[in-house]
Amino acid sequence: MRIRIGSDHAGFALKESVKAHLVAQGHDVFDEGPATQDSVDYPVYAGRVARVVAAGEADLGILVCGTGLGMAIAANKVHGVRAVQVSDPEFARMARAHNNANVLTLAGRYTDEATAARIVDTFLATPFEGGRHGRRIEQISDIENGGRG
Ligand code: RB5
Repeated sequence: MRIRIGSDHAGFALKESVKAHLVAQGHDVFDEGPATQDSVDYPVYAGRVARVVAAGEADLGILVCGTGLGMAIAANKVHGVRAVQVSDPEFARMARAHNNANVLTLAGRYTDEATAARIVDTFLATPFEGGRHGRRIEQISDIENGGRG
């Protein structure tokens, strides 16, 4: 799977761990940065990853900041992106199965490496269920396009 990953300084260590985990599984992982733990602004990296996912140049995006919250807010400003902050593997499953999430955000300051690996594995392994959930995703897109859902 083609995966874009990015973080800020607070998510850097967990990003590196998740990246190594995915590369070891044979995924095609492209790191949008940063390359060090120096302080940076998370919207820069959220925008980079989200735009690539929205353009179809990556299958999924993963973003890590301190809480995952700012990354989710920023990534969701990009048309076509459904970014979710996940701290629990079961929510990773639901975010894919029901919400067809295409960007996963993680909390570098609150989620340990083993839990993050389980979240990421679940997120990648779970297909979108479609059906009634597809209708709801279309309604989200309609709101995004200026409609009433
Ligand atoms: C950085 O201090 C922190 O605000 C950021 O990593 C993130 O948690 C924002 O949502």
